[in-house]
Amino acid sequence: LDRRLPILAVDGPAGAGKSTVTRRAAQALGLQYLDTGAMYRAVTWWCLENNLDLRDEPAVVEAIAHCQLRLESSDPHQPTRVWINDREVSQAIRSLEVTQRVSQVAALRGVRRLMVRQQRAIGANGGIAAEGRDIGTHVFPEAGLKIFLTASPAERAQRRWQELQQQGQCDLSYEELLAQITARDTADQQRTYAPFRKAADAIEICTDNLGIDEVVSKIVHLYRSRLPQP
Ligand code: DC
Repeated sequence: LDRRLPILAVDGPAGAGKSTVTRRAAQALGLQYLDTGAMYRAVTWWCLENNLDLRDEPAVVEAIAHCQLRLESSDPHQPTRVWINDREVSQAIRSLEVTQRVSQVAALRGVRRLMVRQQRAIGANGGIAAEGRDIGTHVFPEAGLKIFLTASPAERAQRRWQELQQQGQCDLSYEELLAQITARDTADQQRTYAPFRKAADAIEICTDNLGIDEVVSKIVHLYRSRLPQP
């Protein structure tokens, strides 16, 4: 009898609300939350910090293979905190510069291999809620529940714009944000290795007309309905 809790996999495009929703669902279900985007962001920050040429795959992979990544998600209301070689980069990985470069680094096969190895180690005993782009298709194809979270590009850009305005750091217009979001989705979908796709057995939830609580409770119900009955 396998007593490990099944894995919850949440994939979707930039700005669909994956982080908030997955974090809250994880809390409600007693699962450990894993933000895999934060990992790709952290290693991208590291490459930029070290002035690496991002087209030089061997150099990038070598640098990333030798750095120590640590994630902490103890507060369900806060984004994941991230350290790279004991330096906290939680804020830095959300910068515009990292956001614009992360897809390029995440497209490298050697980088994905390193990240996926760590992600599978974290999920080796089940009981995690992981969000990203390739969780249901590649990292945990055996996940107990796969959610594909979407929203229209306009809605995603609108939410992101509001969020940045609230933080008082909106240097971009709504149109620029929309263009940035679409460019990142396209890059993530078009990469060769483990591209961003909806898994065949994923359940799609479009969040355009749903509040966060509604989305979370849908996922929580779906997950519970799939647990083996005692
Ligand atoms: O979810 P996010 O915006 O923090 O992700 C940042 C980038 O990292 C995203 O544009 C593509 C990449 N990513 C990935 O390739 N695979 C994942 N599982 C998660 C993120």
